Amino acid sequence: MLALAQLYEEIAACQDCQLAKHRTKVVPGEGAEDASLLFIGEAPGWHEDQQGRPFVGPAGQFLEQLLASIGLRREEVYIANVVKCRPPQNREPLPAEIQACRKWLDRQIEIVQPQMIITLGRCSLARYFPNESISKVHGKPRKVEGVICYPMYHPAAALHQSSLRRIIEMDMLKIPQILAQGKELLQDEVESQQLRFF
Ligand code: URA
Repeated sequence: MLALAQLYEEIAACQDCQLAKHRTKVVPGEGAEDASLLFIGEAPGWHEDQQGRPFVGPAGQFLEQLLASIGLRREEVYIANVVKCRPPQNREPLPAEIQACRKWLDRQIEIVQPQMIITLGRCSLARYFPNESISKVHGKPRKVEGVICYPMYHPAAALHQSSLRRIIEMDMLKIPQILAQGKELLQDEVESQQLRFF
């Protein structure tokens, strides 16, 4: 069995926090096991909870448009969330829920071994840069634990605040160049130091 398929079975059986009680379907994540790009959102919403798939609602449609702008389909990347079950009323996941779910995301990253991790929104940004503000760090790649980490605003932010749409689109367009240059530059960079591409 493929490593991800095995992992999804384990995630589906998880009861390690209270979110498991409320879910319709668990949303483990999906995409290519050998993807170069791994996107991390926050938590499943209503659509995702119904279908058991990440980013299939309005934010997901925008994410697919963003991927298309750099010539990618969602099947070619990996898409995960910080927590795998929908929080009630779409509230933000609690620290205890994030902590309980952390092992699953760690395993996904370990299996996929992406070249670049793209955090979408504040919740997944906090996993890598706990004290940073997204308005300051979005669109700026850094190396963390040997991987390029690239913070972006959450696609849903553009649906609520139209001024962010262009910023998100521009940040996405930088990804191919960062990925190409990053492969060569990463070896020489100091851990967690900001990469200077732009
Ligand atoms: N928002 C997220 O953060 N993740 C999803 O899967 C859908 C919406």
